[in-house]
Amino acid sequence: ASLELGPYSHFMQKEIHEQPKALSDTIEAVLENGFAAGLFGARAAELLPQVEGVKILACGTSYYAGLTAKYWIESIAGISCDVEIASEYRYRAAFANPKHLVVTISQSGETLDTMEALKYAKELGHTMALSICNVRESAIPRASELVFYTRAGAEIGVASTKAFTTQLVGLFALAVTLGKQRGRVDAAAEHGYQEALRQLPGSVQHALNLEPQIKAWSDKFAAKQNALFLGRGLHYPIALEGALKLKEISYIHAEAYPAGELKHGPLALVDESMPVVVIAPNDALLEKVKSNMQEVRARGGELFVFADLDSHFSESDGVHVIRTPRHVGVLSAIVHTIPVQLLAYHVALARGTDVDKPRNLAKSVTVE
Ligand code: AGP
Repeated sequence: ASLELGPYSHFMQKEIHEQPKALSDTIEAVLENGFAAGLFGARAAELLPQVEGVKILACGTSYYAGLTAKYWIESIAGISCDVEIASEYRYRAAFANPKHLVVTISQSGETLDTMEALKYAKELGHTMALSICNVRESAIPRASELVFYTRAGAEIGVASTKAFTTQLVGLFALAVTLGKQRGRVDAAAEHGYQEALRQLPGSVQHALNLEPQIKAWSDKFAAKQNALFLGRGLHYPIALEGALKLKEISYIHAEAYPAGELKHGPLALVDESMPVVVIAPNDALLEKVKSNMQEVRARGGELFVFADLDSHFSESDGVHVIRTPRHVGVLSAIVHTIPVQLLAYHVALARGTDVDKPRNLAKSVTVE
């Protein structure tokens, strides 16, 4: 294993650091194709123009990729999108509109609940399914009309990292492609999205360079029992992903909330012993997030803030700040994933858990 790991201590760390390459490989496929239907397979030119809505089905981290995609699909393509946990969907009498595209997201392509949810959607009358998958010719893409393969390379660590960020690229490309077909993305907007994709691997590398600062935070977390993650908008699913990563590999209980929900319940949990991780990019919701942070500070909660270079935060008593790259706009959620992955990794190391093979979990869940 040491040969395969190179300079890294674990597959998870290696896979986190492989993200600039995994992303640029995946982006290359998108740019070569120029947001044309062909990106999603031979039948995409025929099927995608018929799509009137999108239903995303997935589990775990792949489900969080779906939650992120909803924002892009609704805002860029102007198509309604709902996102559901596969294991729930497969057992409910769901409403199926055959004009809706079913999108499954799965790193392995073998997750039983996602596969069964896809079969169930077909039974209910869906006829168009797209698989976003990292493993070629696995079961889920084989059962789908359309496919987008992420080019993350093999992912060995149980905690999904590079699969997630490359799934987001595929989903973003889907939103832009659908938007273009519907006349909602003009040439100038398309050019802007291409540029955003081109710059993404560099911004992700910049975020990876924050590792020493993030490692320095990990000792503060290692002794904690609980943590809260907050984000808003597109960064709320990233907060969910950060909390899941921390749970999976450090065994610290972590929850994520959209920051605006604090007052509706979770604020009761906040006291001096509660670390609160905040994803605070310089977007339209920044001022809202800042006032949510004051609510936490006023109850003694210790804040750990990931803020863009230009979001003007300063450290103070109980407020720790790590500056992520300058705000990158529409793909900011991908860049902000890196620090929460690194945080979970270093907290787990500090606690001495088995990072690549956390207790009770399997890499691909092929049983119910
Ligand atoms: C993430 O770190 C997980 N271990 C898990 O939630 C995973 O994302 C989920 O089981 C779905 O797997 P898939 O993408 O291979 O379908």
